[in-house]
Amino acid sequence: MGRAPELAQLDRWLLQDRRRLLGVFGLGGIGKTFLTRRAALDAAPGFTAVKWVLLQDGPPPDEVLAECIHFFSGYRDTDLPPSTAGRLDRLLAYFRQARCLLILDKLEAIMQPGRSAGHFRAGYEAYGDLLGTAAETEHRSCLVVIGREQPHDMARWEVQSLRAASLHLRGMDVPAAQAILQDARIAGAPEEWAALVAHYAGNPLMLQLAAAPIRDLYAGRLDAFLAEERFAFGDVNDLLDEHFGRLATGEQDIMHWLAVERTALAVTDLVEHLLPRRPVGDVRSTLASLLRRHLTDRDAAGFFLQDIVLEYVTDRLVARMADELMAGQPDLFRRVAAAQPGCGRAPAAGPGTVSRRAPGRAPAPGLAGDG
Ligand SMILES: Nc1ncnc2c1ncn2[C@@H]1O[C@H](COP(=O)(O)OP(=O)(O)OP(=O)(O)O)[C@@H](O)[C@H]1O
Ligand SMILES: [Mg+2]
Repeated sequence: MGRAPELAQLDRWLLQDRRRLLGVFGLGGIGKTFLTRRAALDAAPGFTAVKWVLLQDGPPPDEVLAECIHFFSGYRDTDLPPSTAGRLDRLLAYFRQARCLLILDKLEAIMQPGRSAGHFRAGYEAYGDLLGTAAETEHRSCLVVIGREQPHDMARWEVQSLRAASLHLRGMDVPAAQAILQDARIAGAPEEWAALVAHYAGNPLMLQLAAAPIRDLYAGRLDAFLAEERFAFGDVNDLLDEHFGRLATGEQDIMHWLAVERTALAVTDLVEHLLPRRPVGDVRSTLASLLRRHLTDRDAAGFFLQDIVLEYVTDRLVARMADELMAGQPDLFRRVAAAQPGCGRAPAAGPGTVSRRAPGRAPAPGLAGDG
């Protein structure tokens, strides 16, 4: 449903260009799994065998390599090399013999939280070797990885091998989002639908999560729901919690600052305004990390937060400053006050009034390059 350009792009990469490593990345619920499943079904006739592995529970690399060797050998290869490197070589041999399509979904489950984005957890580095080898070695197959976080080395593999590529999935456009909610018993004028989709940045899961309260609490009236100007709640907050909980402290600081300033900030703005001050190299690498997580957006004016993320971060900021005041250690409160003479401008303005971009502006659909 919808996503025709993205699907065409994946089909081209898989079948015509014969890329060896593909990444599909984006925020939780944006539709990565849905889209990749469609693309894999389209491309399946062009491959000898197709395997989908879910990494949600963090399976050790040795286990997954063994499972893939069994599968791509038609369950004939039972004499497994004991070492990880040996298993990687063996899998590569099957990648050369036949056209195999291997899809690893939920890559973020094997990535390290609490530090900059895209580094594999301790004990899971062999997955990075698998990705690098798939990109840089001659073979006939394709490895597709799906995740909320783009691996740190992906950009290098794309440049070095020219056989690797990333699709950064953005929100859906209004007609496609409306089609997803067609059975949700929601009624609204075209501009109200556009406002709803813009508030959730075209995220299909967030729109589905919002649909139930709109129907049950507002009798399906979009105007009544929109009038409340509160969009980050319940399961939508839980989804954003999963993302925010993975951030390094420096990333959280920049997210807070983007929420305080409520406008697009260039690198130099952040270098000048962030408290405590941070060197430009540090700010740059933190922003690059946030882009790999899809929590921050960027346009010609600078870096900014989508409305739903802005509302969520503002709520967190207010709650954290309140906690600090109660504990008598108002560190964040002081920093925000120092950056905002007269204070209050940002957090005190209230989450309902945070919209940086006019509601109704449809999210940019389609494909985007990496930062
Ligand atoms: N193009 C689409 N058409 C219809 N429904 C869609 C589409 N894309 C996504 N959805 C729906 O949106 C929800 C989220 O999609 P999906 O599970 O693919 O997200 P995801 O990006 O893989 O999220 P996560 O990071 O949590 O794995 C699902 O219920 C899915 O059916
Ligand atoms: Mg998914």
